Amino acid sequence: MIILGIETSCDETSAALVQDGRHVLTQIIASSAKELAEYGGVFPEVAARRQVECMIPVLERALTPSPSPHCGAERGVFSIAVTRGPGLLTSLLVGTTTARMLASAWHVPLIGVHHTLGHLSSTWLLPHECHADDMPAFPLLTLSVSGGHTDLWLRESHTKNTLIGRTRDDAAGEAFDKGATLLGLPYPGGPVLARLAEGGNPHFVEFPRPLHNEETCDFSFSGLKTSLKYAIRDRGGIEALSEIEKKDIAASFQEAICNHLVSGLEQALERHHQALEIHIVGGVSANKRLRSMCAERGIKIRLPQKLEYCTDNAAMIAAAGYFLYKEKGDAAFAEFTTEASVALDASM
Ligand code: KG4
Ligand code: ZN
Repeated sequence: MIILGIETSCDETSAALVQDGRHVLTQIIASSAKELAEYGGVFPEVAARRQVECMIPVLERALTPSPSPHCGAERGVFSIAVTRGPGLLTSLLVGTTTARMLASAWHVPLIGVHHTLGHLSSTWLLPHECHADDMPAFPLLTLSVSGGHTDLWLRESHTKNTLIGRTRDDAAGEAFDKGATLLGLPYPGGPVLARLAEGGNPHFVEFPRPLHNEETCDFSFSGLKTSLKYAIRDRGGIEALSEIEKKDIAASFQEAICNHLVSGLEQALERHHQALEIHIVGGVSANKRLRSMCAERGIKIRLPQKLEYCTDNAAMIAAAGYFLYKEKGDAAFAEFTTEASVALDASM
């Protein structure tokens, strides 16, 4: 069963064909990161304008070569899954409008997918060239860490998810991005900060450990950001810092964020012994230090198999659409609205 996924919730325009919720036949991702770098971050109107330009070429490339030589529904596409929210409304509308028109022209059903459910499904994805390996097993714990959210989910099935921890303020990716801005680094901040941190001294600045007095699976990152601001100010400001000092501060800040995330994961594991697997998904799951820290602390994690499955992509939306259909049947094709802000439970 082949599903066409479409994702346009933030600054990416992506389309993908995924078979049986796992095998990524094709995936195209166009990013407006370069244009947005000129604005120093995501600027909704710029992102949406670029998505309008990219949507059709991205779709055309994702659909070529097509799984069958015919057009429309006969291409072999069973359904179209599209991100319905949360995200930037103007950007989301580019994807949902395109998906609605295509579904109508092809006479195939449409599945509205919550962006987070897409990330939660990304650990199922297999690159086209890979043979099926072991299937993830429920119940499992997923740490979903992106620019928009930082959540811990206990998952009993694709549609039965319990939120057991969440950030009380900034998301982890947002902390990376804001930290990068304070260090004078360009957008997109997270990966640039992570690259700068490579080889730096992670103990150069000892950052506070957020919520360490509480027994909680929640997270908080805004204090770390404020501490970073003071650490830079106390050393005479960004202009006074040497390149080595910037590297060391970046490494320390990254260490503090990863430490906080892994501690939250440890708390969750202590409380939920039934979890058979631990998954980390979302843009920040691309972070190498987060991955190595889990290994150092003996936490075996399952990650998306490619870096492009960590950050926003359409394959994860197609996978989520497939699992929604498998667990809910035709109810997965229910009418949906496009929403800038929507809870995961409200959309399943
Ligand atoms: O999942 P995603 O692509 O989009 C959202 O749904 O938000 O995540 C983007 C976030 C950004 O905040 C970005 O800075 C962060 O993920 N990110 C990283 C890395 N790659 C992406 N943060 C730290 N290290 C990375 N290597
Ligand atoms: Zn995302």
